[in-house]
Amino acid sequence: MSRIVYVNGAYLPEEEAKISIFDRGFIFGDGIYEVSAVIGGKLVDCEAHLARLERSCGEIRLALPWSKAELVAIHEELIRRNNLDEGGIYLQVSRGAADRDFPFPKDVQPTLVLFTQARNFVDAPGAKTGIKVVSTPDLRWARRDIKSVNLLAPVLAKQFALESGAQEAWLTEDGVVTEGASSTAWIVKGKTLISRPLSHKVLPGITRKAVLAYLAESGFTFEEREFTLEEALDAEEAFITSATSLVMPVTSIDGHTIHNGAPGPTALRLREIYIDYARKGGVLG
Ligand code: PDD
Repeated sequence: MSRIVYVNGAYLPEEEAKISIFDRGFIFGDGIYEVSAVIGGKLVDCEAHLARLERSCGEIRLALPWSKAELVAIHEELIRRNNLDEGGIYLQVSRGAADRDFPFPKDVQPTLVLFTQARNFVDAPGAKTGIKVVSTPDLRWARRDIKSVNLLAPVLAKQFALESGAQEAWLTEDGVVTEGASSTAWIVKGKTLISRPLSHKVLPGITRKAVLAYLAESGFTFEEREFTLEEALDAEEAFITSATSLVMPVTSIDGHTIHNGAPGPTALRLREIYIDYARKGGVLG
């Protein structure tokens, strides 16, 4: 049975779903996206993802004609129609379809597309073995806080990771780790989690925010600062967070073994707490 996807007001089998070749998301990358997780049939921190969507759209002056409640309802309907127990929901909104011209078109409706991807997030193999990471220069633009659909640099970084036998790339700038190609980067020292401050240089991760929300009960403290690749290679533990990896231990960076090549207790504990909350709809309320 094919997936049911959402396109501009209609729920359709994926083969029947169409958008214009003039869509500005396709032509200019003039659009914003979000990825939310579904675990045990429940959306995880969907409100927070939609708040970030609104912020990203505001930053590119794309007025969203849908309320948060309407967008949540579309997510819920896709879960229901696809009988989705675990996986991701991808949402993309573009400035709409108009003959190719750089400035914003007038009187054009944004294009809205959502689809589900059934995946095992909780029992992902990396959770048991840890994942390998390789570093690569951060080639992205200056407003990485906007979740834009322009993902060529992360696509190239991920392909480099894959061809290097790794599962994620850590992007670096002047020796400092900015973030993963599609995740937030963390290292651990004793009982302290280290991740860089939010700025235009990184996407404000919703999973990052969730981990910080249950920090006190997890027994760890947070040091919000940049870290270099060199420091990461020496770290006691490392991990990534994202809607699709949840909290995922890193056991190798550029071929250097981290935590004896086994997932560290900090990442595993944070993952366990995250999943407990995720099953109830998330941490952030
Ligand atoms: N990526 N940093 C970048 C560059 C990302 O693309 C992502 C998410 C994150 C983590 O954000 P969050 O915790 O809100 O998922 C950080 C998604 C999963 C993707 O592009 O598929």
